[in-house]
Amino acid sequence: MRASAAITRTLMPTTAKNEDIKKELHQLALAATSADHLMSEVTKLLHERMLKYNWVGFYMLEESSAGKQQPMLVLGAFQGAMTPHTRIPLNQGICGAAASTGKTVVVDDVSKDSRYLACSLETKSEIVVPVFVRGKVVGELDIDSHFPAAFTAGDRELVEYCANLVGKHLETSRP
Ligand code: SME
Repeated sequence: MRASAAITRTLMPTTAKNEDIKKELHQLALAATSADHLMSEVTKLLHERMLKYNWVGFYMLEESSAGKQQPMLVLGAFQGAMTPHTRIPLNQGICGAAASTGKTVVVDDVSKDSRYLACSLETKSEIVVPVFVRGKVVGELDIDSHFPAAFTAGDRELVEYCANLVGKHLETSRP
């Protein structure tokens, strides 16, 4: 991208910028060769274009084999620093809360949330949005920010759009 185009995009009003990004995401979904490919592209685009999205990653639910273990969230495609939390049980963290309730969780100040599992000392706020396949949670999109209360209603809408796009893609690839 030319520098002037990059500056124009950065200075665009939030709603217009998010609509622009949603169009690009839609194109990525059409071009993706697999759900894994799509998840990787989504993390790259959000991390590059959304300046407050400092860590962007998917956790996917690993089904327990014959009920022997509890279900785990396993780190998938991500952008940002490596996290110590590559496997998260459903009863731990903001990630576990979003996956077990099937609801988006937005935390404006992670230091005040006792569920929070720290990835980086710089993280101040976080959003986690579940990914559904035919109404069942199969994973989630997790984003951390170095800024407090970084995730507005507009961000929530954008991140839910991404999670929905991945869920729809998985629906076509999973029997
Ligand atoms: N903070 C998350 C753990 C994952 S890292 O943010 C990448 C949580 O509380 O579940």
